[in-house]
Amino acid sequence: MRRFPAVFDLVPDQVAQVIQLAGLAPSPNNGQPWRFRLLPHAIEVHVDPARRLPATDPDDHELRLACGAALLNLRLALTHAGVRPVVTLLPHLSPPTVLAEVRSGGHQRPDAEQIALYEAIPERRTQRRPLQPTSVPAAIQHELRVAARAEGAWLHLVQPAEHDALAGLVRRTRLVDAEPAPLLAVLCTAGSDPENDLEAGQAWQRVWLTATARGLAATPLPLLAEANGIRDDLRRLLGDVPHPQAWLLIGYGEPSPAMPRRDPGELLIDAVPSTDHEWPVTAEPVRPAAIRRGVPPV
Ligand SMILES: Cc1cc2nc3c(=O)[nH]c(=O)nc-3n(C[C@H](O)[C@H](O)[C@H](O)COP(=O)(O)O)c2cc1C
Repeated sequence: MRRFPAVFDLVPDQVAQVIQLAGLAPSPNNGQPWRFRLLPHAIEVHVDPARRLPATDPDDHELRLACGAALLNLRLALTHAGVRPVVTLLPHLSPPTVLAEVRSGGHQRPDAEQIALYEAIPERRTQRRPLQPTSVPAAIQHELRVAARAEGAWLHLVQPAEHDALAGLVRRTRLVDAEPAPLLAVLCTAGSDPENDLEAGQAWQRVWLTATARGLAATPLPLLAEANGIRDDLRRLLGDVPHPQAWLLIGYGEPSPAMPRRDPGELLIDAVPSTDHEWPVTAEPVRPAAIRRGVPPV
């Protein structure tokens, strides 16, 4: 078993737990496309280029959503361990596989909501059975919206008047059991660049953990990038919403089994292999000067 180093002022066992919890994030086909480099003063979140899914995710949008979700787990786990995480997305001058760098902003005691989200990390599952037709209380719907906003995103909860038009769109994604009830949630961000994808991934995970903490279950629908034209149709139907990134069905349901994860030790890298410098593979540079310092802690 691989030994974990100390990071910040956390002992190796605490660091191992932080990485294990980060690795419980959702990912397409459970591909777990993330890796972590542990430095005494920082944790880097890297994409694992070997785990790209070019056939279904040619522009790596889903991959960045998944890594954003892992980043949110990492932030919550650090906060729970008493470290205030300060995140830089797509840090300038870092190897191209680095999606985020997390440093310590000092000590922080988690508040009640942060503890609830932290405790929901191992409980969250992709719902693999049909959701019950029970509606989600308005107060919880509000909390889900607040969760998205806390990460700089926006959650559109589809209203009954929008159902008929949207049901057609949902069917076009070829999901047979995807009625937009009890709650169809569309997660939007202001833009569509790689940094927005990482923000959306964190927001998606925060919404999902909030739902889990309130006893709800969720199923992602096939993502918008996969479904030709659906993103534009969705934007039009919802009245020119900002960039729709992902959608989730949320409701009450029987618990689904946990999916396996890689051992946390397998997620560590000591140095960036030279072949990784060929990532990203898109023609457009995806690492503009998108430097955001001081992202607020969870
Ligand atoms: C970006 C993204 C897209 C996903 N798309 C789907 C999907 O279309 N259908 C589905 O059933 N699950 C989807 N999932 C959920 C994964 O299958 C799931 O996270 C993975 O199998 C691990 O299981 P868990 O979420 O229960 O831990 C998606 C997850 C992510 C992060």
